[in-house]
Amino acid sequence: DLPFPVFRRGKVRDVYDLGTELLIVATDRISAFDCVMPEGIPDKGRLLTAVASYWFAATEDLVPNHFRGHPGWPAALEAHRKDLAGRAVIVEKTRPLPVECVVRGYLAGSGWKEYQAGGSVCGVALPPGLRLADRLPEPIFTPATKAEEGHDENISFERMAGIVGAELATRLRDLSLALYRRGAELAARKGILLADTKFEFGLSISGELLLIDEALTPDSSRYWLADSWAPGQNPPSLDKQFLRDYLETLPDWNKQPPAPHLPEAVIQ
Ligand code: C5P
Repeated sequence: DLPFPVFRRGKVRDVYDLGTELLIVATDRISAFDCVMPEGIPDKGRLLTAVASYWFAATEDLVPNHFRGHPGWPAALEAHRKDLAGRAVIVEKTRPLPVECVVRGYLAGSGWKEYQAGGSVCGVALPPGLRLADRLPEPIFTPATKAEEGHDENISFERMAGIVGAELATRLRDLSLALYRRGAELAARKGILLADTKFEFGLSISGELLLIDEALTPDSSRYWLADSWAPGQNPPSLDKQFLRDYLETLPDWNKQPPAPHLPEAVIQ
């Protein structure tokens, strides 16, 4: 524990209160759906921090973000320097908006499930005959609620507008689509497809809209190798899809409260 008040312990990140700023420490924990696995992946938090910093810099011309730098090493942190190096960032405090801004360029995950059930995703009608992992004609914006308890729920744009207001909803949609396109374009240069991704936004104390959380990391996105992509099957995923797939093989994993036959998983 650090010598600061705990602001929030997330599934993967611990957040400390520095006053007008926050200190976010990316741990090595890994989670999917609402399960935090008991064992982490060594140095995952450092990689996540590096990837998030890259993307904040690569997108700040599209929308300002909450990243304010890596911490110096005041005396209070000196004892933690080794543990924190590469995994701590200072960010501006915001009021997070209560929606997850998901953009999909390909059909996977809950998008694929919704499409199979009704031919649309979050109220966006898609052409018939699409297969799993198919590229969509255009990237689509498919928001979700941010559930404190239980699972996030995909919602229509109209429902999102009812939550945050039509004007802000439109701005968030347009920004998210622009951020997705930037991410997809830069990833494509490395032979990687950005299948889908999730953004979060917050309002700063002065009311400025900021990109927050961890944009375009493999914890908040599906990344596929372009070479091994083929519609009809889930391509090898450079993210935590393997964990979702594993959890889905366990019977009743998503029941509330968590099923007792999941002793190996810590549920938050
Ligand atoms: O599971 P689903 O298909 O709805 O996820 C869409 C995208 O949003 C994925 O890239 C996933 O990593 C991301 N996501 C997330 N956090 C959530 C829900 C989805 O980062 N709570």
